[in-house]
Amino acid sequence: MTQITSELVDQVQIIRFNRPEKMNALTREMYGDLARLLNEAGGDFGVRAVVLSSVGDHFTAGNDIFDFMNNPPTAEDSTVALFLESLLNFPKPLIASVKGNAVGVGTTMLLHCDIVIASEDAAFSMPFTSLGLVPEAGSSLLFPALVGYQRAAKVFFTGEPFSADFAEEIGLVAEIVLDSDAEAIKIAQKIAKQPPTAIINTKALMKASKHDSVAAVMKAEFQLFAMALESEEFADAAMKFMSKKGK
Ligand code: COA
Repeated sequence: MTQITSELVDQVQIIRFNRPEKMNALTREMYGDLARLLNEAGGDFGVRAVVLSSVGDHFTAGNDIFDFMNNPPTAEDSTVALFLESLLNFPKPLIASVKGNAVGVGTTMLLHCDIVIASEDAAFSMPFTSLGLVPEAGSSLLFPALVGYQRAAKVFFTGEPFSADFAEEIGLVAEIVLDSDAEAIKIAQKIAKQPPTAIINTKALMKASKHDSVAAVMKAEFQLFAMALESEEFADAAMKFMSKKGK
C-alpha cells in the first residue's frame, strides 16, 4: 500500500501520510511522492486547495531516522530538498490537519502552510539540536520571525515539545478543534468555492516579502544539515534512538 495517499473531493486534494506503524516517519520515497503530488496539484486547475493530513493517531514523527542514517540526503536534488522546495513554492492554499505528534519536519512544514488546524492532543517539537542536527525547511528564519528570537531559541536549543495551546498562542496554529480533519476539509471546501485567481494572487502577495530570503536560508540550512548528518553528534543520537527501540 502506498505510504502517501491522495484523493480529490470537491476540488480539494487531501494528501495523507500513511505509515502509522512508524508514526508516519517520512522516508525518501514519501518525500518524493509528496513533492510530485504538490507540484501536480499546483498546476492542476481542478485543484483549488490542498489539505495535508495523516492516517492514524499522529501527524508525523518527522524524518525517518534510519533512512537518514542509511541514505543521508546530501544533494540539493534529494527528494527531501524537492519536497521543501515544492512547499515553499506551492501557489494555492495549503491547510494542515495536525493530531498527535508533529516532530521535526512535521512542525517545520507547518510554517509554510496557510492555515493549520490542530486537535487538542497535538504536540509539536523540533528536536534538531538534540539529534546533533540543525533546523530545516527555512525554520531558522520563519520560526523566530513568528514567535520572537528568545522563544524560538528556547524551543530550538532545548528540543522540548510544546502543546497545541502554545502553538495557537504563538500563531503556528489557527484553531484547536475536536476533529481537525473535518474542520480542515470544511475550510478548504469553503476556499475552493472562492474565485481561484484572487486566492492565488492573495497568497502570492502575502508570501512575496519572505520568499527569496527563505529560499536562501533553506539552502544554507541544507548544507549544514547534510554536514551534520555525517557527524559524530548525529551518529550518537541515532544510536541512542535505535538502542532504545532495541534495533
Ligand atoms: N524514524 C523512524 N522510525 C520512527 C521515528 C522516526 N523519526 N519515530 C518513530 N518511529 C517508529 C519507532 O521506531 C517505532 O517503531 P517500532 O514499533 O517498529 O519500534 C514506532 O515508530 C512508534 O514509535 P515509538 O518510539 O515506539 O513511540 P513513542 O510513543 O514511544 O515515542 C516519539 C514517540 C515521537 C517521542 C519517538 O518515536 C521519537 O522520539 N521519534 C523520533 C522523532 C524524531 O526525532 N524525529 C525527527 C528526526 S529529524
